[in-house]
Amino acid sequence: MRPRILVTTPIPEPGPSLLSGAADVTVLEEAPTYAELAERCASGEYDVVLTQLRDRIDAELLAKATVRGVSNFAVGYNNIDIAAATERGIMVGNTPGVLTDATADIAMLLILGTGRRVIEADRMVREGRFHGWEPELMLGADVSGRTLGLAGFGRIARATARRALGFGMEVLFAPRPPHDRAVTDSELGEFAGKVRKVEWDELVAASDYLSLHVPLNEDTHHLVDADVLGRMKESAILINTARGPVVDEAALVAALRDGRIAGAGLDVFEDEPLLAPGLADLPNTVLLPHIGSATVSVRAEMSRLSALNAIAMGAGRIPDHPVNP
Ligand code: DGY
Repeated sequence: MRPRILVTTPIPEPGPSLLSGAADVTVLEEAPTYAELAERCASGEYDVVLTQLRDRIDAELLAKATVRGVSNFAVGYNNIDIAAATERGIMVGNTPGVLTDATADIAMLLILGTGRRVIEADRMVREGRFHGWEPELMLGADVSGRTLGLAGFGRIARATARRALGFGMEVLFAPRPPHDRAVTDSELGEFAGKVRKVEWDELVAASDYLSLHVPLNEDTHHLVDADVLGRMKESAILINTARGPVVDEAALVAALRDGRIAGAGLDVFEDEPLLAPGLADLPNTVLLPHIGSATVSVRAEMSRLSALNAIAMGAGRIPDHPVNP
C-alpha cells in the first residue's frame, strides 16, 4: 500500500514529484493552525507529516498522533518535541548539510552589512540624502582585523569561520554552551592554528562581532540576555542566523537603544514574524526575514531531502537523515 503523506505547506520541486511518485499526498494550501494540524495528525489518515518550522509538533499533539514519522523541512527541529516523539516511536527527519554555505553567507553578509551600515547607506541614496562624497559620511566598523566570536562550532559556524578568515578577521569560538562536548584540537582540522577556542565569557568580552550558531533548546534559550549584552564591548555587533529565542530580544532592543552594544544583524526573531517593540526603529540593525537557506538550489535540496525522508518513513524505514535514535 502506498504511504499517505500530509504536506503542511506547498514546497518547491523536486519534493512534490518525488512524493507523488511514491505516496498518496495531501498538500495543504494554507498553513494549518495548531488545532487543525493536531486533528489531522490524529485522524489516522496519514502515515507521515512533512512539516515546516512554524508547525508546532509538541508532546500534546504527539500523544494523540497516529503518524509514524515527521519530516521537517529544515535542519533545525526546535518546533518538534524530539523526546516525546522518540518515546512514542515516531521517527523525525531533517535536512542537514545542504544549507550550511547559504546560511554562512548570510552570517557574513550581516557582519559586513551591519558593520558597514549598508542599509542606512542604501536608504540615504534612495531618499536623495546623498549630496556627494564626504570625509565622515557613513563611517562604519572595520571587518578586516576585527575579532569574530562564534558561539558554537558546528557546520555553519565553521563555514562562517572560513569566510571570516578570508576577510582577514581573527576568529575565536566557544563550543556550544553549556553541555556541548569539548572540541579537541585534533578535531579542528583545517582550522588548526587559524581559530582559537576560548571560554564563553572570554568570547563575549573579546568579540567585535559575536555570531550565534547554536541550536535552540532549554540550555540556549536567552543565552544572550541583558547580562551577556552588558559584558560585550560597546563597539560590538551581535549576529544571529540561528534561532530568535537564543537572544532576549527585548534586552537586545534596550542594549542597542542605550548604546551598550553598537549594532545587530538578525535573520531570526524571537517570535517570528513579529519583532520586539522598537527593534524596527533602530538604525543600527540589519533585519532579514529568516532567509539563511533561501536560495533556489538550497530550497530544492531541502525539498528533496525532506521528501525522501518522508517516503522512507512512510515505508517504515529509517530516514536518510534521522533526528531521533
Ligand atoms: C533551518 O533549516 O533550520 C533554517 O532555519 C531554515 O532553513
